[in-house]
Amino acid sequence: MKTSALIDESGSLGHRRVLDFALRREAKVESPEVRVVVQSTIDESADRAAFRAGLLAKPATSSPKFFYDPQGSALFGAICELDEYYPTRTEARIFERHRAEIASVLPGGSQWVDLGCGDGLKARGWLEPAHARRYVGVDIAEPWLRSALASLVATLSKMPPSRSIDVVGVVADFTRPFDLHELLLEEPSMAPVFFYPGSSIGNFVGDDARAFLASVRDHIERHPASLPGKLMIGIDLVKDRSTLRAAYDDAVGVTAAFNRNVLRVANRLLDADFDLSAFEHRAIFNETHGRIEMQLVSLRPQTVHIGEAVRRFEQGEVMVTEYSHKYTVDGFATLLESAGFAGGDRLRCWRDERDWFGVFVAEPA
Ligand code: AVJ
Repeated sequence: MKTSALIDESGSLGHRRVLDFALRREAKVESPEVRVVVQSTIDESADRAAFRAGLLAKPATSSPKFFYDPQGSALFGAICELDEYYPTRTEARIFERHRAEIASVLPGGSQWVDLGCGDGLKARGWLEPAHARRYVGVDIAEPWLRSALASLVATLSKMPPSRSIDVVGVVADFTRPFDLHELLLEEPSMAPVFFYPGSSIGNFVGDDARAFLASVRDHIERHPASLPGKLMIGIDLVKDRSTLRAAYDDAVGVTAAFNRNVLRVANRLLDADFDLSAFEHRAIFNETHGRIEMQLVSLRPQTVHIGEAVRRFEQGEVMVTEYSHKYTVDGFATLLESAGFAGGDRLRCWRDERDWFGVFVAEPA
């Protein structure tokens, strides 16, 4: 709205218009209450202790989950818009092109379990084609989850009542064992569809990825719905090294800012005094493990206080902040099978024309 719209003929602010505007804003804030369940494995003080221990260890490490404070989440949003960062865009194109066919292999009347749901918008486009009846949004950050789900409820309320979708939030941390059995059993006739897009599984090292997948498979197997539940998962595929490296070291430096932001998070959460300008962003492709490794490299010898502790960094000393594993189609199929999912004809995969990204739909063996 232009400012002039708030100004009446006499040139002064139209009070009614200002009031209307204020009321509209208020109505937006009073969004519907969404039921949010907090898993008992959420433990902020244990997280802080692990974060501190990782930074003090040699070599220093930090878990990717510490990237995502509000500023880090905004920077990740900016990464997804970068020319070099192809995964989000490529996955979205696979979704668009094959949506009807993918939806046709999913159980109808499902409960849609959105793992790491963020704003829930990736899932939003699936709920109608897949005929989902319930949406379970799972994420690690509670305030963010509440407001994201409230706006999702607002857009879903435009659907006809016969197709209404029940929305539930769960605060959980997938780096720990998670348990959604009881929640999913509240709807015994709705087969669960686990949705894990964006190649988020790339953050897990092999054994942890397998354990995570086995846990999803166990949730599907133990659910009593007559139609079999499924897992739909997006995987970044191995490709030429320069494309991979550029995706994690863009020309504008957004990924560098995203990476350094973890030091800001440490300063706030751990009462540390990292100087962000004293660390350089680096992304390398580790051939042995088939993964991008994001690092922060100390530009000079320096001393950092982390609460009561003192950590000395040598010039060139490396802190590892993230692994992003890349898979071949066969390699990921093998991983799924080792976690108890079916292979062969019962495993489906859709790809883009360059084979840069794969969307798998799997069911228990
Ligand atoms: C959110 C884990 C899928 O590994 O590509 C993007 C995070 N890190 N750029 C990825 C990320 C740097 C991203 N995941």
